[in-house]
Amino acid sequence: MCGVVGAILRDQPALEGILDGLRVLEYRGYDSAGVAAALPEGVAIRRRAGRIEALRAALEDAALEDAALEDGALSEARCGVGHTRWATHGPPNELNAHPHSDQSGRIALVHNGIVENHQELRRELEEQGVEFRSDTDTEVIVHLIARELERLEGESGEAALADGVREALKLVEGYYAIAVLRAGPEPELVAARQGPPLCICVNEVGAWLASDVLALLPHSREVVYLEDGDVARLAPSHYEVFRPDGERVERSPEEIEWRAEDAGMAGFSHHMQKEIHEQPAVLGRTVAARVGDGDADLGSGWSDSELAKLERVQVLGCGTALHAGLIAQFLIEGLAGLPTDSDYASEFRYRSPRLVPGTLALAISQSGETADTLAALRLAKELGCHTGAICNVPGSSLVREADSVLLTDAGPEIGVASTKAFTAQVAGAYLAAVRLGRARGEIDALGADTLLEALRGVRAGLEVVLGDETVALVKEVARSNQDAKGFLFLGRGVNYPVALEGALKLKEISYVHAEGYPAGEMKHGPIALIEPGMSVLVVNSEGGVAEKVRSNLEQVKARGGRVIVVGSDEESLALADERIPVPATSEWVSPILNVVPLQLFAYEIGLLKGCDIDKPRNLAKSVTVE
Ligand code: F6R
Repeated sequence: MCGVVGAILRDQPALEGILDGLRVLEYRGYDSAGVAAALPEGVAIRRRAGRIEALRAALEDAALEDAALEDGALSEARCGVGHTRWATHGPPNELNAHPHSDQSGRIALVHNGIVENHQELRRELEEQGVEFRSDTDTEVIVHLIARELERLEGESGEAALADGVREALKLVEGYYAIAVLRAGPEPELVAARQGPPLCICVNEVGAWLASDVLALLPHSREVVYLEDGDVARLAPSHYEVFRPDGERVERSPEEIEWRAEDAGMAGFSHHMQKEIHEQPAVLGRTVAARVGDGDADLGSGWSDSELAKLERVQVLGCGTALHAGLIAQFLIEGLAGLPTDSDYASEFRYRSPRLVPGTLALAISQSGETADTLAALRLAKELGCHTGAICNVPGSSLVREADSVLLTDAGPEIGVASTKAFTAQVAGAYLAAVRLGRARGEIDALGADTLLEALRGVRAGLEVVLGDETVALVKEVARSNQDAKGFLFLGRGVNYPVALEGALKLKEISYVHAEGYPAGEMKHGPIALIEPGMSVLVVNSEGGVAEKVRSNLEQVKARGGRVIVVGSDEESLALADERIPVPATSEWVSPILNVVPLQLFAYEIGLLKGCDIDKPRNLAKSVTVE
């Protein structure tokens, strides 16, 4: 999703730091990039379709968009903004890339989000003589700011950029994280947020802003998160935050535990590979911090008094996070005895959900910024639910808005395909199920200890699954199946969402067609696909449904499908054409182990097909628009 960065520095050039910030945000997915710098004469803008490297090359070119300005001046500017765009309105070309400027060439703006009433605003501005230069919804904001500043200046002689921004945003419907600069002898930098995240920090060099805390970590670990409706004025040594009515408010910095190095590659070839291999440590951390004596210790937001009142749970999420949510449904019903539903956040928000009083709306999200998940949680809150979140990003919108929060402690996830966040979410759901079961009296202290011991044991299993032997085996299986006509992933019970997740990973990373299905559903349609050349990955671990899965597996074999078994069920492994054994463990925690070979399989197929593993086409890391 679009990335926003900006800086206003005391006495050193801002551009290099802004480009570094954009590079940190590359992982979010983008198709064009641009920067603007505030110079005494006006704004200087450079934009390019494609990667940041193309932008960097453009910055080294001779001609500036505004020919009156010198290249040297651009690189010397102390105030600038930058952007990586993931196209929504208009194709990813240079004209649609941000920043956009007003007609006077003094104001430049970058935006993440959507202006829902852009057509109406555009018509109005065109009638007033504004000539638009792009197809974007964003461009209306910069013209509105210019118009409102002119109006304010007409009324009182001069106006601060922050006031013009506040006035303009009153007319904008939609979602935004924006950074706006005004050129002049004393450049001004303003940030505003409604929806997508935006944070700021100040260090000895100056003030910085970014749409993702990772881009601020090289500058400071003390970060201020803007709230919806905030407009912030940044100066080299301080910042001020205003509400839409102009009232000044305090927003104190929060200490971030992540380190800039956590977002590095640590010797691996790809972030995805590194993150797959981090899973034993992530699981160890997530569990160690939450295992209490005879209970899971999730913190104060998960007290008996709130949880004992619950009658139902509604799990919400998107993509991989929803797959963790489907597992959460099995765990909460199976362990805590609470009726539980799960739904795509994007569907939930547009049906008319009937939620009984005493429902816990539990949103699962790596980023905590997914627009659909946030909207679904807000709807559930409006409907009177207690809200909970299993989330990986401290300070994210979800974490700030939910009543009860369980942080998964997976560290920054940079690979676009979610891996370590998924297993941490499943571990989080397991811990929440134990806590709910204890609060409701469904699980006693001894039972909780046994369950928690099983979760603690998963770390050792993960180390086996990520050991050289299994990794080599997965490589071999990937090689022998790379030319399959198609892939079907099957699983049942608590492992059926693992099949969905395996198929999703393969689609995302290697662009081959893959379907994930509950194994029992196969005979109701997908079985028609089975023929020689079709590879079927069957996830089966020992437990209540193992025998059922075995018979589904036989049905595939009987029709000539190539069967690859992943799991601990010995009989299934013996029946398979190829096999990836996974250590035996309790059925409830088996998804955490079983998903790992599927992540590795997607990674290896992606490599064999020459795909861009960490930047899969069309995908964004965090989907902050609908
Ligand atoms: C797939 C993937 C996505 C996300 C989904 C929700 O690998 O990463 O399907 O899981 O976009 O994102 P979060 O978890 O940030 O809400």
